[in-house]
Amino acid sequence: MASHIQSTKEVIRHVLYKTGGTAFIQLMKKVKGLHSDHLYGQTIEERFSSIYDDQVWGGGAGSRSGPGSDYQATSSLTAALADLLARLEAKHVTDIGCGDFSWMQFVRGDFEYCGIDVVGKLISELEEKYKSPSRRFLQLDATKDELPKGDTAICREVLFHLSFTDAKLVLNNLRRNGYTYIIATTDNNTWFNSDIMSGDHRPLNLAKSPFSFPNPIHTIEDDKVSHGRVLAAWRVADII
Ligand SMILES: C[S@@+](CC[C@H](N)C(=O)[O-])C[C@H]1O[C@@H](n2cnc3c(N)ncnc32)[C@H](O)[C@@H]1O
Repeated sequence: MASHIQSTKEVIRHVLYKTGGTAFIQLMKKVKGLHSDHLYGQTIEERFSSIYDDQVWGGGAGSRSGPGSDYQATSSLTAALADLLARLEAKHVTDIGCGDFSWMQFVRGDFEYCGIDVVGKLISELEEKYKSPSRRFLQLDATKDELPKGDTAICREVLFHLSFTDAKLVLNNLRRNGYTYIIATTDNNTWFNSDIMSGDHRPLNLAKSPFSFPNPIHTIEDDKVSHGRVLAAWRVADII
């Protein structure tokens, strides 16, 4: 979608959200045949568990974590991310909102990996399937639970599902837990960030208000699903 059309849409979404139009947004989703029942969950855990259980973001042969996690969207990402982690000399990587681990399992490197997700059932499945001496999985809510110690946090396609308040809680949690680097999704194509209910989705440009991140130190193209989307790395000390 062209940048000005996308951003205009975001302005409308933001005004609706801020003026109590959430019910209208939910109704519009229903009218368009989009799933919205998960947005009635009281907690982040309830909302994302409902998304997982009801396969709102897909399933079957594809990833249950959404189109951005399918093979077509990630096949060129695995090697690029492995290179980036090596450049950052990452030794303890925490993957925040690891989803179903469909593509991350192929990212090779000399680091210990900890995948965290708020969906308990998903974490039990990952533990059973993929746990190894250098890989573990924990059910945690990154907005409020203490994070495992690590040097590098990956936050791919997660913040754009969270309200401004919850996304900032995740970022502060990283700082509190002493992380050096964050690698996160940012949408360069939008010039306006809309607030949303956590569990919904919108493009999010971390260079814009209310985040205003500086230029990243490295970027990887991640635009198979959305034009202008990149996975970018910052020093945590530079963004907060
Ligand atoms: C779109 S998926 C992305 C999965 C994975 N990062 C990838 O790139 O394939 C977003 C994931 O973030 C998880 N998530 C959302 N909010 C979270 C939170 N506060 N703490 C931990 N996980 C969270 C969701 O349950 C979901 O599995």
